[in-house]
Amino acid sequence: MLKITNDEFLLLADFIKSNYGINLFNKKSLVEGRLGLMLSAKGYHSFSEYFFEAFSDPTKTEITELVNKLTTNHTFFMRESKHFDFLMSKVLPFFENNIKDYDLRVWSAGCSTGEEPYTLAMIIADYFGNKKSAWDTKILATDISVRALEHAAKGIYTADELKGLSPVWKLRYFQSISDGKFEVSEDIKNEVIFRSFNLMDGIFPFKKKFHIIFCRNVMIYFDYETRKTLINKLYNIMEPGGYLFIGHSEIINRDDSKFRYIIPSVYQKGID
Ligand SMILES: C[S@@+](CC[C@H](N)C(=O)[O-])C[C@H]1O[C@@H](n2cnc3c(N)ncnc32)[C@H](O)[C@@H]1O
Repeated sequence: MLKITNDEFLLLADFIKSNYGINLFNKKSLVEGRLGLMLSAKGYHSFSEYFFEAFSDPTKTEITELVNKLTTNHTFFMRESKHFDFLMSKVLPFFENNIKDYDLRVWSAGCSTGEEPYTLAMIIADYFGNKKSAWDTKILATDISVRALEHAAKGIYTADELKGLSPVWKLRYFQSISDGKFEVSEDIKNEVIFRSFNLMDGIFPFKKKFHIIFCRNVMIYFDYETRKTLINKLYNIMEPGGYLFIGHSEIINRDDSKFRYIIPSVYQKGID
């Protein structure tokens, strides 16, 4: 396995932080472990040689693979399930009563392999029931890891990955396919639009603002300033009254944004 020198590591950590927000500065062995074997297998003799190729590749193929390798995509269905209870009991009734054009806009920002946006789609389908056809409740689901997004779009999971779901949901929203795997139903898949998007981008190119944003367990990899900037961008792209869900180990300081604290890891934009 190739070893990374200190200079090479600093160059790479700096590149990843300034382009993707992810702070790897204290993760040298993780970086070496995730990339070292791949680089040896590709025939590189040093990380520097690889960087030269990767940074000058106009197709960005190597950079895409680098990002795939360096992102942490851990996620699961119904993760932090209290969020979904709150969504069902408070947030969806609030928007059902307040949205006049039946267009509920939801964003799963940092959706990884799809478990979070599919959970959202299933919760929304359950909540609206036979009123659902009157509503547009499409969920935008974005990530920087193209590999995670490809997995997400396929919507295929093992029985073990479905273990957090009720038997009713498994029957209603999945079909059994070969090798003991399960595929998300077409109805639910059609509710989620997967796109590659970097939350570090200066401009959020969305035509309309969102009512609900899930940006959970993404900012844990960012430093304070990057988090603060992102939270304010999320505030600006949120409809008045919109709800932001972040990970339970994450926090938004009162002085850092205009979001109002509602319950742990849930915030709301004021209606004024
Ligand atoms: C640990 S996963 C969290 C997945 C899901 N939100 C959850 O809570 O289960 C974090 C995801 O954030 C993505 N991510 C990290 N930096 C990002 C950025 N700058 N823009 C978009 N996505 C990013 C990673 O690729 C990864 O898939």
